[in-house]
Amino acid sequence: MSLRDSKNKQTHASADKPDDREAEFPQRFASGIARTRTSRREFIKGVIASGATVAAASYLFRGPDFAQAKTAAGAVERLVSLKVNGQTRRVDVLPQETLAMTLRYKLGLTGTKLGCDRAECGACTVMIDDVPHYSCSTLTHSVRGRAITTIEGIKGEDGGLHPVQKAFVEELGPQCGFCTPGQVISAVALLKANPKPTADEARQALSGNLCRCGAYDHYLRGVMRAARGA
Ligand code: FES
Ligand code: FES
Repeated sequence: MSLRDSKNKQTHASADKPDDREAEFPQRFASGIARTRTSRREFIKGVIASGATVAAASYLFRGPDFAQAKTAAGAVERLVSLKVNGQTRRVDVLPQETLAMTLRYKLGLTGTKLGCDRAECGACTVMIDDVPHYSCSTLTHSVRGRAITTIEGIKGEDGGLHPVQKAFVEELGPQCGFCTPGQVISAVALLKANPKPTADEARQALSGNLCRCGAYDHYLRGVMRAARGA
Protein backbone atom coordinates (compact mmCIF):
# COMPACT_ATOMS: atom_id res chain seq x y z
CA MET A 1 0.00 0.00 0.00
CA SER A 2 1.43 3.34 -0.96
CA LEU A 3 1.86 6.19 1.46
CA ARG A 4 -0.84 8.11 -0.42
CA ASP A 5 -3.28 5.15 -0.17
CA SER A 6 -2.53 4.80 3.49
CA LYS A 7 -3.24 8.47 4.08
CA ASN A 8 -6.45 8.25 2.06
CA LYS A 9 -7.57 5.26 4.08
CA GLN A 10 -6.94 7.07 7.33
CA THR A 11 -8.78 10.10 6.06
CA HIS A 12 -11.76 8.05 4.93
CA ALA A 13 -11.84 6.06 8.16
CA SER A 14 -12.02 9.19 10.26
CA ALA A 15 -14.58 10.68 7.92
CA ASP A 16 -16.85 7.63 8.22
CA LYS A 17 -16.88 7.75 12.00
CA PRO A 18 -18.30 10.95 13.50
CA ASP A 19 -16.08 12.14 16.29
CA ASP A 20 -17.25 13.09 19.76
CA ARG A 21 -17.67 16.72 18.92
CA GLU A 22 -20.02 15.74 16.13
CA ALA A 23 -22.10 13.56 18.46
CA GLU A 24 -22.12 16.30 21.02
CA PHE A 25 -23.00 19.06 18.65
CA PRO A 26 -25.11 17.46 15.90
CA GLN A 27 -26.50 20.84 15.01
CA ARG A 28 -23.09 22.33 14.43
CA PHE A 29 -21.97 19.25 12.55
CA ALA A 30 -25.03 19.45 10.29
CA SER A 31 -24.40 23.09 9.52
CA GLY A 32 -20.75 22.21 8.81
CA ILE A 33 -21.88 19.66 6.25
CA ALA A 34 -24.19 22.21 4.73
CA ARG A 35 -21.32 24.64 4.45
CA THR A 36 -19.18 21.94 2.88
CA ARG A 37 -21.89 21.08 0.39
CA THR A 38 -22.39 24.69 -0.51
CA SER A 39 -18.73 25.30 -1.19
CA ARG A 40 -18.48 22.01 -3.10
CA ARG A 41 -21.45 23.04 -5.24
CA GLU A 42 -19.82 26.37 -5.92
CA PHE A 43 -16.59 24.64 -6.75
CA ILE A 44 -18.32 22.33 -9.24
CA LYS A 45 -20.14 25.28 -10.78
CA GLY A 46 -16.80 26.99 -11.23
CA VAL A 47 -15.29 23.94 -12.87
CA ILE A 48 -18.26 23.62 -15.22
CA ALA A 49 -18.00 27.30 -16.12
CA SER A 50 -14.28 26.94 -16.87
CA GLY A 51 -14.88 23.71 -18.78
CA ALA A 52 -17.57 25.36 -20.86
CA THR A 53 -15.13 28.09 -21.81
CA VAL A 54 -12.41 25.62 -22.74
CA ALA A 55 -14.84 23.39 -24.62
CA ALA A 56 -16.15 26.34 -26.57
CA ALA A 57 -12.60 27.27 -27.42
CA SER A 58 -11.84 23.82 -28.74
CA TYR A 59 -14.50 23.88 -31.43
CA LEU A 60 -13.00 24.23 -34.84
CA PHE A 61 -13.95 26.60 -37.61
CA ARG A 62 -15.35 29.19 -35.28
CA GLY A 63 -16.42 32.47 -36.68
CA PRO A 64 -16.05 35.99 -35.35
CA ASP A 65 -18.87 35.31 -32.87
CA PHE A 66 -16.49 33.15 -30.91
CA ALA A 67 -14.06 35.96 -30.27
CA GLN A 68 -16.88 38.11 -29.01
CA ALA A 69 -18.52 35.43 -26.90
CA LYS A 70 -19.05 36.38 -23.31
CA THR A 71 -16.50 34.84 -21.00
CA ALA A 72 -18.05 32.69 -18.29
CA ALA A 73 -18.16 34.26 -14.86
CA GLY A 74 -14.85 33.86 -13.10
CA ALA A 75 -12.93 32.70 -16.18
CA VAL A 76 -9.77 34.53 -17.20
CA GLU A 77 -9.72 36.36 -20.53
CA ARG A 78 -7.15 34.64 -22.70
CA LEU A 79 -8.04 35.64 -26.23
CA VAL A 80 -4.96 36.26 -28.33
CA SER A 81 -4.35 37.09 -31.99
CA LEU A 82 -2.07 34.80 -33.95
CA LYS A 83 -0.79 35.31 -37.47
CA VAL A 84 -1.11 31.89 -39.03
CA ASN A 85 -0.53 31.29 -42.72
CA GLY A 86 -1.10 34.96 -43.49
CA GLN A 87 -4.36 35.20 -41.55
CA THR A 88 -5.05 36.71 -38.16
CA ARG A 89 -6.77 34.16 -35.95
CA ARG A 90 -8.34 34.95 -32.59
CA VAL A 91 -8.12 32.07 -30.19
CA ASP A 92 -8.55 31.34 -26.50
CA VAL A 93 -5.20 30.07 -25.21
CA LEU A 94 -4.31 28.60 -21.83
CA PRO A 95 -1.21 30.08 -20.21
CA GLN A 96 0.74 26.83 -20.51
CA GLU A 97 -0.59 25.81 -23.93
CA THR A 98 1.83 24.78 -26.67
CA LEU A 99 1.59 26.03 -30.21
CA ALA A 100 1.09 22.46 -31.48
CA MET A 101 -2.00 22.08 -29.32
CA THR A 102 -3.40 25.42 -30.41
CA LEU A 103 -2.81 24.73 -34.08
CA ARG A 104 -4.22 21.22 -34.06
CA TYR A 105 -7.06 21.37 -31.58
CA LYS A 106 -8.24 24.97 -31.70
CA LEU A 107 -7.44 26.09 -35.23
CA GLY A 108 -8.00 22.74 -36.94
CA LEU A 109 -4.57 22.74 -38.59
CA THR A 110 -3.91 19.04 -38.16
CA GLY A 111 -1.16 18.91 -40.78
CA THR A 112 1.15 19.73 -37.90
CA LYS A 113 1.76 16.33 -36.31
CA LEU A 114 2.44 15.43 -32.71
CA GLY A 115 4.90 12.60 -32.29
CA CYS A 116 7.01 12.73 -29.15
CA ASP A 117 5.55 16.00 -27.79
CA ARG A 118 8.92 16.75 -26.19
CA ALA A 119 11.25 18.26 -28.79
CA GLU A 120 12.78 15.07 -30.11
CA CYS A 121 11.19 14.03 -33.39
CA GLY A 122 10.40 17.15 -35.42
CA ALA A 123 6.95 16.00 -36.52
CA CYS A 124 5.48 19.23 -35.13
CA THR A 125 7.86 21.58 -36.99
CA VAL A 126 6.41 24.91 -38.12
CA MET A 127 8.05 28.10 -39.28
CA ILE A 128 8.02 31.14 -37.03
CA ASP A 129 9.25 34.19 -38.92
CA ASP A 130 10.67 31.76 -41.51
CA VAL A 131 12.73 29.84 -38.94
CA PRO A 132 11.77 26.22 -38.17
CA HIS A 133 10.65 25.53 -34.61
CA TYR A 134 9.21 22.58 -32.72
CA SER A 135 5.67 23.73 -32.02
CA CYS A 136 5.26 21.11 -29.27
CA SER A 137 7.86 23.00 -27.26
CA THR A 138 6.79 26.54 -28.05
CA LEU A 139 4.29 28.33 -25.85
CA THR A 140 1.55 29.88 -27.91
CA HIS A 141 1.60 33.07 -25.88
CA SER A 142 5.25 33.58 -26.85
CA VAL A 143 4.52 33.82 -30.58
CA ARG A 144 1.83 36.48 -30.59
CA GLY A 145 2.40 38.87 -33.47
CA ARG A 146 4.89 36.60 -35.22
CA ALA A 147 4.36 34.96 -38.59
CA ILE A 148 3.53 31.29 -38.12
CA THR A 149 3.58 29.01 -41.16
CA THR A 150 2.23 25.50 -40.99
CA ILE A 151 2.18 22.87 -43.71
CA GLU A 152 -1.28 24.16 -44.73
CA GLY A 153 0.38 27.46 -45.63
CA ILE A 154 3.00 25.91 -47.89
CA LYS A 155 2.13 26.04 -51.56
CA GLY A 156 3.61 26.75 -54.95
CA GLU A 157 3.14 29.96 -56.92
CA ASP A 158 0.26 28.38 -58.80
CA GLY A 159 -1.46 27.41 -55.53
CA GLY A 160 -0.53 23.74 -56.03
CA LEU A 161 2.27 21.80 -54.44
CA HIS A 162 5.38 23.67 -53.40
CA PRO A 163 8.54 22.72 -55.36
CA VAL A 164 9.87 20.99 -52.24
CA GLN A 165 6.71 18.90 -52.00
CA LYS A 166 6.94 17.99 -55.69
CA ALA A 167 10.60 17.04 -55.28
CA PHE A 168 9.81 14.90 -52.23
CA VAL A 169 7.18 13.04 -54.25
CA GLU A 170 9.62 12.59 -57.14
CA GLU A 171 12.22 11.16 -54.79
CA LEU A 172 9.68 8.93 -52.95
CA GLY A 173 10.34 10.66 -49.65
CA PRO A 174 6.96 10.10 -47.98
CA GLN A 175 6.53 6.48 -46.91
CA CYS A 176 3.95 6.44 -44.11
CA GLY A 177 4.00 10.24 -44.39
CA PHE A 178 3.82 11.04 -40.70
CA CYS A 179 7.09 12.97 -40.65
CA THR A 180 6.56 14.57 -44.06
CA PRO A 181 4.96 17.89 -42.98
CA GLY A 182 7.86 18.53 -40.63
CA GLN A 183 10.40 17.54 -43.28
CA VAL A 184 8.76 19.89 -45.78
CA ILE A 185 8.78 22.80 -43.35
CA SER A 186 12.45 22.29 -42.51
CA ALA A 187 13.37 22.03 -46.18
CA VAL A 188 11.38 25.10 -47.17
CA ALA A 189 12.95 27.10 -44.35
CA LEU A 190 16.40 25.98 -45.47
CA LEU A 191 15.83 27.00 -49.09
CA LYS A 192 14.47 30.38 -48.03
CA ALA A 193 17.65 31.08 -46.09
CA ASN A 194 20.02 29.24 -48.41
CA PRO A 195 18.63 28.55 -51.89
CA LYS A 196 21.68 26.56 -53.01
CA PRO A 197 22.71 24.41 -50.05
CA THR A 198 25.35 21.72 -50.16
CA ALA A 199 24.25 18.18 -49.33
CA ASP A 200 25.85 18.53 -45.92
CA GLU A 201 23.97 21.74 -45.25
CA ALA A 202 20.72 20.08 -46.30
CA ARG A 203 21.47 17.06 -44.12
CA GLN A 204 22.15 19.38 -41.21
CA ALA A 205 18.93 21.31 -41.82
CA LEU A 206 16.84 18.13 -41.75
CA SER A 207 18.69 16.56 -38.85
CA GLY A 208 15.98 17.62 -36.41
CA ASN A 209 13.35 15.63 -38.26
CA LEU A 210 13.25 11.92 -37.46
CA CYS A 211 11.74 9.45 -39.90
CA ARG A 212 10.62 6.12 -38.55
CA CYS A 213 10.46 4.80 -42.09
CA GLY A 214 14.12 5.65 -42.60
CA ALA A 215 13.57 7.65 -45.77
CA TYR A 216 16.35 10.11 -44.93
CA ASP A 217 18.19 9.76 -48.22
CA HIS A 218 14.96 10.22 -50.14
CA TYR A 219 14.22 13.46 -48.33
CA LEU A 220 17.78 14.64 -48.78
CA ARG A 221 17.64 13.98 -52.51
CA GLY A 222 14.33 15.81 -52.56
CA VAL A 223 15.86 18.92 -51.03
CA MET A 224 18.72 18.87 -53.52
CA ARG A 225 16.30 18.35 -56.41
CA ALA A 226 14.19 21.30 -55.26
CA ALA A 227 17.32 23.43 -54.91
CA ARG A 228 18.29 22.58 -58.50
CA GLY A 229 14.82 23.58 -59.60
CA ALA A 230 14.45 20.19 -61.22
S1 FES B 1 6.22 16.30 -31.48
FE1 FES B 1 7.46 18.06 -31.35
S2 FES B 1 9.46 17.35 -31.61
FE2 FES B 1 8.26 15.54 -31.54
S1 FES C 1 7.85 8.65 -43.93
FE1 FES C 1 7.18 7.47 -42.23
S2 FES C 1 8.04 8.46 -40.54
FE2 FES C 1 8.96 9.42 -42.23
